[in-house]
Amino acid sequence: MSREMDEFVDKVRSSADILTVVSSYVSVKKQGRSYFGCCPFHSEKTPSFHVEPEKGLFYCFGCHVGGDVFKFLSLIENITYFEAIKLEAERLNIKLPERKKTAREMEREKVVNELFDANELARKFFHSVLVNTSFGKSGMAYLASRGITEKIIESFSLGFAPNAWDKLTTALKKRGVKSEALLKAGLASKSRDGNRIFDRFKNRIMIPIADIRGRTVAFGGRTMGDDNPKYLNTSETPIFKKGEMLFNLDRAHKEIRKLEYSIVVEGYMDAISLVAAGIDNVVASLGTAFTANQAKLLMRYAKKLYFAYDSDEAGQVATVRAMGLAASAGAEVFVIGIPDGKDPDEFVRKHGKDGFLQLIKNAMPLVDFRLQYILKRTNTDTLEGKVRALHDMLPALTGLRDEAKRIYYQKKLAGALMLDEGVVRNEMGRMGGFIPVGKSDRKVVHRRENALERAGRILIKEAVEDEAALTYLREVLPVDVIESESQKEIFAELFKDGADINITKLTDDAAAELSRALMEEYEGDAYIDALKLFERQDLNIKYQRKSRELEEAIIRGESGERSLEDLRSIKKALDEL
Ligand code: UTP
Ligand code: MN
Repeated sequence: MSREMDEFVDKVRSSADILTVVSSYVSVKKQGRSYFGCCPFHSEKTPSFHVEPEKGLFYCFGCHVGGDVFKFLSLIENITYFEAIKLEAERLNIKLPERKKTAREMEREKVVNELFDANELARKFFHSVLVNTSFGKSGMAYLASRGITEKIIESFSLGFAPNAWDKLTTALKKRGVKSEALLKAGLASKSRDGNRIFDRFKNRIMIPIADIRGRTVAFGGRTMGDDNPKYLNTSETPIFKKGEMLFNLDRAHKEIRKLEYSIVVEGYMDAISLVAAGIDNVVASLGTAFTANQAKLLMRYAKKLYFAYDSDEAGQVATVRAMGLAASAGAEVFVIGIPDGKDPDEFVRKHGKDGFLQLIKNAMPLVDFRLQYILKRTNTDTLEGKVRALHDMLPALTGLRDEAKRIYYQKKLAGALMLDEGVVRNEMGRMGGFIPVGKSDRKVVHRRENALERAGRILIKEAVEDEAALTYLREVLPVDVIESESQKEIFAELFKDGADINITKLTDDAAAELSRALMEEYEGDAYIDALKLFERQDLNIKYQRKSRELEEAIIRGESGERSLEDLRSIKKALDEL
């Protein structure tokens, strides 16, 4: 990192206030020097989430996550640590240092800007053709036949590509867009001889697709007849990556955060119709299978995802796998069943907002939906069928992070398939079920309070807060005795860098452990007992080792006099502790 960047990070760090940041997501109550609340990273009823503004740290005693303000932001927003720093800088109005761009970066930026410009001009062109010209009449009639009002046409900036060869191309060239840019943006294609370019979209309703900042980056063009394809979409470009965007997210994200869930549909028209009906927290997945990246994107705004897919598509393996991935990344996934094989567009136009909200109320958790779906389609009378059903359940089950839920569904599955529970459990294990995915897999572990670990934390706190203690511990601490990997890591950093330990260098577990150590309160002389515990443990280990040596010596027929001598002195040291 450059010096400017270091200074930038320092400035954000010293200006950021963890209590302010945390309070905008979690409600916390003051209790002494610290604040308590219900942890946003696992579900709980009694508050075990703990913030200490003076130290700039948080820690959850339930799910053991912890760290500084940026760690908190990165977890809750599902972004990287550095993205969290930038996000906080934005809120605090601290400018990112300007960096000199390389020639290649400048070239890339130019291309990208040309693409944005071309798409923006095209959006205006298509829209104007639809609402202002006679070319757009058939488009208006088609939209009216689908119940799309002028208000919706305006708000989605829907448009129409005229049934002509080069209307768009000519209009945009006049406005200074180069042929290169039109081709790259996927708005035009080359003639066979390569000498001319033509409009790519003809005689289609044009639906602009925007990025999260609302800039048009692509189009979906629907035919009004039976042409193939039904929807012609912009192919991937440097500004349009299908698996990483969602249609309507730019308009929906505020409402998603407010309502604490998103609705995912497959089709553009499904999203548009739901919005028209007054349901704004909806996004569409752009024609490809839903991806883990799209799940992460949505989870920045809310952890609950409601899928309203056509019933066939909702049962597709790829879809279930994607939903399972979302679940194992920490999302709560529900499947909305739509009666009579309708899609959300048709359903909501017939039954309105209330009808759809009722479907949301009746939505099933992914695993239940999957179970019902599979049981309906598999002959579970045969052993083969039972095994296949078990296998088909796996992608949905891998998302289950909660032990209690896991056991619940194992029971349920065993019951439904009339199999022994143990068989189900074994088969699941054998087929690789329940593999935690990603680092965000946070289990609530009720650890036995381990005396040695507690002693380790006491020593860590002493070492950070008291330079003399650090120097002393560096000399005398029997590090081999430490069992916790996190503590090993923390002590290694402490002994290397001194008390200015940099939390960003630590792994997530170690950062959490350090936060916990610094936030726990200990009795004044707990430090002495803690160190004694380590020394006693060290001597115990040595005593055992020597005993074994003595046994082996005796077996070999030797006297073992030396080992015996060592044993006596270890015993004496233990007694004196
Ligand atoms: P559907 O075929 O289910 O269409 O495709 P739909 O959304 O119900 O469309 P309408 O109501 O007939 O107008 C679902 C989605 O899959 C993508 C589009 O994003 C579409 O909205 N798709 C479908 C394509 O990209 N190309 C196609 O040819 C068909
Ligand atoms: Mn449809």
